[in-house]
Amino acid sequence: MAFEITGTGRAVPSHRVSNDDLAARIDTNDEWIRSHTGIGNRHIADENTSSSDLALEAAKNALAMAAGFNGNDTGERDRAAAEMAKDLDMVILGTVMPDFIGTPSTACIVQDKLGAVRAGAMDIAAGCTGFVYGLETAAGLLGLGRGRKRALVIGSEVLSKVTNWDDRGTCVLFGDGAGAVVMEKTDAPSEGPGRRGLVRTLLGADGSGSESLMLRRGGSRNPFKAGETIEKGIYIEMNGQEVYNFAVKAVTDTATALMQAEGIGPDDIAWIIPHQANARIVQAARRRLKVPAEKFYLNIEEYANTSAASIPLALDEMNRNGKLKKGDLIMTIGFGGGLTYGGNIILW
Ligand code: UT7
Repeated sequence: MAFEITGTGRAVPSHRVSNDDLAARIDTNDEWIRSHTGIGNRHIADENTSSSDLALEAAKNALAMAAGFNGNDTGERDRAAAEMAKDLDMVILGTVMPDFIGTPSTACIVQDKLGAVRAGAMDIAAGCTGFVYGLETAAGLLGLGRGRKRALVIGSEVLSKVTNWDDRGTCVLFGDGAGAVVMEKTDAPSEGPGRRGLVRTLLGADGSGSESLMLRRGGSRNPFKAGETIEKGIYIEMNGQEVYNFAVKAVTDTATALMQAEGIGPDDIAWIIPHQANARIVQAARRRLKVPAEKFYLNIEEYANTSAASIPLALDEMNRNGKLKKGDLIMTIGFGGGLTYGGNIILW
């Protein structure tokens, strides 16, 4: 039994904001942002767009690909996706920015709009590592049997809605977007010769660092109160240095542990797809790991940090650009709020 990715999709808002656009309104500049993060642009959702809207688009693209559709006609794509959606058993969505706090889950909204009438649906709150957790959760649920065969795993974020656009320490970092994959249980082996699909996952957490990256208001610890004028705690807050140090260690340790567990080295890996938080984090980890730069896929220049969406968004970009070849061994590495970390090894 193998858990193979049979379709990928992504969606980003059309509104593109460059570093110079930000420099026109706050005290920053293109040189600082590029040299400290590798970011050049980000795509920002309009007022009416939420995480489920981007997730739905990414999901339709992934489902249509899984159904064999590869054209440009949106109507035909929607028909192909709707047919495939009827056969979904699970919709799993990783996000830091659900449409609503608590309930309904963003996954349920997507499940309904897709017409995935047979599917269970749930969100995963594992920060920027949500997609890595989601893939393993999907494989676990499909592997339990119970007649389940196909899952949709999504990462979707509209962090711009909780970004303080006057705080140069955070607002230059984030972007909006979504990525999705269809995972199917197949008869291919998951071990030994000819194995395919998701072959190994590492999941980790260090809640002692929870305050380094947080959204303070709105939950049961600190709920909004009727009539209150809210000024503090409504934006994402980050201790950049602490998260940076955690992230370099998380990428290094996760890659090392996954390679050791698989009995492989850097030469065996076609691509490492890290969470796109900061190109400098990747460079620092890469030097420690002694992995050549060209093995790391980076698209942070265009999309900035899209949190749980960044890995599936990169996967789809690579897939549609023909960078992923059948039999390639690829490694994802996520890290972020929680604090959480983890990685997957996938035989494409
Ligand atoms: O996905 C979730 C995970 N998140 C992350 O992985 C983020 C991890 N952290 C980072 O990537 C980095 O810590 C940042 C990119 C956030 C910050 O980079 P840094 O090299 O740690 O900069 P810093 O915070 O130490 O600030 C250095 C200087 C400060 O000025 P002074 O005090 O030295 O005069 C900041 O005020 O840079 C200044 N600064 C800026 N200057 C221009 C901070 N942000 C900006 C800015 N433009 N946007």
